[in-house]
Amino acid sequence: MSRKELNIGLYGFGCVGFGLYEVLQKTPGLKANIKNICVKDRNKSREIGIENFTFDKNDILNDDEINVVVELIDDADAAFEIVSAALKKGKAVVSANKKMIAEHFTELLELQEKYNVPLLYEAACCASIPIIRNLEEYYDNDLLESIEGIVNGSTNYILTKTFAENLSYDEALKQAQDKGFAESNPILDTGGFDAKYKLLILLAHSFGYVAKPADIFNIGIDGIGELELKYAREKGLKIKLVAQAFKGTDGNLSAFVIPKFVSTEDRLYNVDDVFNGVLAKTSFADTQFFVGKGAGAHPTASAVLSDISALSYNYRYEY
Ligand code: HSE
Repeated sequence: MSRKELNIGLYGFGCVGFGLYEVLQKTPGLKANIKNICVKDRNKSREIGIENFTFDKNDILNDDEINVVVELIDDADAAFEIVSAALKKGKAVVSANKKMIAEHFTELLELQEKYNVPLLYEAACCASIPIIRNLEEYYDNDLLESIEGIVNGSTNYILTKTFAENLSYDEALKQAQDKGFAESNPILDTGGFDAKYKLLILLAHSFGYVAKPADIFNIGIDGIGELELKYAREKGLKIKLVAQAFKGTDGNLSAFVIPKFVSTEDRLYNVDDVFNGVLAKTSFADTQFFVGKGAGAHPTASAVLSDISALSYNYRYEY
């Protein structure tokens, strides 16, 4: 199959943006070239031999040679402005911004439809696990009964370190931040918001249901204390932050994010550290289990790379 040549305009050159740059250097087979990078901070030194940095978002939007926008910035509102402007200009978009997608899902679906351009966001949900692509392709005709998983790497890292290594909560969180796993506002991780945004994306691709963040309860890990840890240790259990969605017998969907005790029988029990794990219960294939690194520069960049590659053969989500 002949592949389209891609000229990329990249927004954001932080942990994942730089990770993508590195990953692309090691992927010579893909005809994808970063033509321009838009960054916010003028004073940061970026010694990577690329001349093409801009501070004006319009330089990329107005460049007709750029056919793919990759959005890897932190701010969800600014990200939505960029992504919607790019779609309106007919540029395909890859984004890793789960908050932006969750908060603007309906508008983003309308823009894709109206301007007939794809928006891909595999990296926004469970980083390196190709869960959206699987939900889109493999389960297209097999009805899903439930989706359950550990979808936030930072909280899983914190829970693993506090439980198994007796690290303090603050120290474990600091490590998650130093390793580039945590959001710049870590409440998004620890309060279960990031997991909720990802669950909302999973809901759309598994049940075709577009929810709003306010529709889904999220309880994070902040309320877990010594008492719960002691109970888990005594009973041979672990505590995991689990995002869950299922169809009830009445056909109604339930979805929530909540910390749970899990036993050794549960496949999520061994999903530790920064790993994520997703269980898909289906009508015909029973339960399938996806596992992989859920945060960090290269695992996230790997998912962005996969979306870029998919755009080269005009892939788009059908929902
Ligand atoms: N803060 C997120 C996490 C990053 O820890 O899972 C990846 O989405």
